[in-house]
Amino acid sequence: MPDSRYAVFGHPIAHSLSPQIHRSFAAQTGIALEYTAIDAAPADFAAALDAFVAQGGRGANVTMPLKEAAFALCTQTSARAQLAGAVNTLVRNDGQWHGENTDGPGLVRDLTDRHGLDLRGRRALLLGAGGAARGVAPALLDAGILELAVVNRTPERADALVDALGVPERAYTRYWDDLADQGDFELIINATSAGRSAGNGFQAPFTLVNSRTLAVDLNYGEAAIPFLAWARAGGCRDVVDGLGMLVEQAAESFALWHGVRPDTDQVYAMLRGRERTLVTAD
Ligand code: ATR
Repeated sequence: MPDSRYAVFGHPIAHSLSPQIHRSFAAQTGIALEYTAIDAAPADFAAALDAFVAQGGRGANVTMPLKEAAFALCTQTSARAQLAGAVNTLVRNDGQWHGENTDGPGLVRDLTDRHGLDLRGRRALLLGAGGAARGVAPALLDAGILELAVVNRTPERADALVDALGVPERAYTRYWDDLADQGDFELIINATSAGRSAGNGFQAPFTLVNSRTLAVDLNYGEAAIPFLAWARAGGCRDVVDGLGMLVEQAAESFALWHGVRPDTDQVYAMLRGRERTLVTAD
């Protein structure tokens, strides 16, 4: 019988891969746990979390659109979570929630360890300034990128993100309409949710791309198709979707809860293989 309960909260949540990932980690490490997906609308999230605790909940992942609400519900938050203003991992400690954001470390681990890419010294362009963008920006700076240009449909949100980063000499905002004048970048990250809406193509000038550009979409599956198609058409040298980051941020959460970091290669290969099967079947 599992002695600890974990869950991922989101809205919607039915298609989340997190239960499968965490159950695989648990099997691999021999840790008995229950991990479920709980659908909670923002207005119901606090009550759903209370009910989860009453049933023995010890930790949770939080995904769209609850990451900011989770941050607000925490008694303590890490420096990383504070910079993001968003929490994707909740740890129950002394009857209180502690909030962490493992998205950024997960992304950097995927790019550097799995894909063997060196981020240091790259000029980086971050598209988007929502929860996902705020989660990864500090980790990219920590990983040694040279500078970070942030562009967002709503410019005020890009300004707020850059202000929060607090490194004006390295992070700055630009406008979508001025992208053609920004030169080229060695790292371009799509952190917008635009690809999740059907019929949204991705458009940006190919002048952003140079001979060693790495293009990363934080989305995976169909939502990543428009940006990654643009990146390939523009000649980006490396093109990476968000599936590996999903697995790595889960491993970071697992380590926080259980004190052991699972091996991620097996789960990643399984999910990647299944995605290929699905794409072929279509
Ligand atoms: P997430 O947690 O996935 O980051 P979010 O906080 O709602 O979700 O942020 C979504 C991001 O995608 C934002 O940067 C948003 O831009 P706005 O701040 O202007 O809303 C961006 N986005 C969503 N749809 C978009 C579209 N059609 N074109 C460009 N950017 C879009």
